[in-house]
Amino acid sequence: MKLFSANIEDLRSLYVMELRKALDMEQKITKSLPKLIASCTDRELASALENHLNETEQHVVKVERLLDTNEQDVSPETCKAIGGLASEADNSIKDATDPNIRDIVIIECAQTVEHHEIAVYGTLRRWAELLGLDEDADVLESIESDEIKADETLTAISDTVNVQAVA
Ligand SMILES: [Fe+2]
Ligand SMILES: [Fe+2]
Repeated sequence: MKLFSANIEDLRSLYVMELRKALDMEQKITKSLPKLIASCTDRELASALENHLNETEQHVVKVERLLDTNEQDVSPETCKAIGGLASEADNSIKDATDPNIRDIVIIECAQTVEHHEIAVYGTLRRWAELLGLDEDADVLESIESDEIKADETLTAISDTVNVQAVA
């Protein structure tokens, strides 16, 4: 019984630590998305990313609220993964001089970030359920669903953008 409680405490600490990393991740995405949007040629792609930038700003607020109710500590913890993805995106976009190819690269970079976010929120949601934090789990599921929809929208846009690029 003691061991079980200790493990729950460990999972709680891990949960809060990963929430703090998720906060850093979302804050970094709000800074990199405007750069991606400014580099887009396809209007539909730019508008999908603008829409997701608005959602991402809401994700920052939602994760801050979760941290506030769990820990009263809303300080972010560095998410090295998103830092790496953002700097790779910067380099790939600079290297892509043809506008159509650049749009393909932007979609690739954005979808890589979405897949990372889907993994993060899927895990956090399951941990919240294990910890009996049902309200947290609902919020995390709503963010995860935004990320899944953003990824699906990018897949749909890539159908036309890829065809334009190779035409
Ligand atoms: Fe997000
Ligand atoms: Fe996202």
